[in-house]
Amino acid sequence: MAATKPSSLLFVVLLSASILISSEAREFLVGGSDSAWKVPPTTTDSLNQWAEKNRFQVGDSLVWKYDAAKDSILQVTREAYLSCNRSNPLAEHKDGATVVELRRSGAYYFISGADGACEEGQKMIVVVMSERHSLRGLAPGPSPVELEGPSIAPATGAASRTVAALKTGVVATVVVLAVMSRLIV
Ligand SMILES: *[C@@H]1O[C@H](CO)[C@@H](O)[C@H](O)[C@H]1NC(C)=O
Repeated sequence: MAATKPSSLLFVVLLSASILISSEAREFLVGGSDSAWKVPPTTTDSLNQWAEKNRFQVGDSLVWKYDAAKDSILQVTREAYLSCNRSNPLAEHKDGATVVELRRSGAYYFISGADGACEEGQKMIVVVMSERHSLRGLAPGPSPVELEGPSIAPATGAASRTVAALKTGVVATVVVLAVMSRLIV
């Protein structure tokens, strides 16, 4: 039985690393802080403003921190989101530290389970880019604006994040190809 050559071991390690880097899943703390899941202080839609500034990809996760005695998170349909209907959610989370993995592309609708909070604006739409969008990188995904109605500004930081991710993936791939060509020659 032949021992594994160090060079092919290195190749496997680098290949795995490049796959991990290019499909790196991210965790997003909803609203950007531990206390963000609450009724927004002004009538502007602050949770959706936060969501619009980010680019979510399949495999990413949303993380919420909140007081489980006072609040919860309901994942609901678009209709229930618009009417703040809490009666029959798709999913309910009330543990105070919730992680929701975004397993498919498209829109996710979240509202607060606390009395009256959704009506006062504690609700959020997260749009996860399709895999095709992720690969092409730069085409902007649909924003909550298109899904719900008039709102504020388009996302800006997202494109640069995607470019950075693409660059990292390209660099890793080039390294792997370089190692491969050495093995072949
Ligand atoms: C809320 O949703 C449930 C089912 O999901 C429905 O039966 C009920 O009529 C809705 N309530 C309102 C006020 O729309």
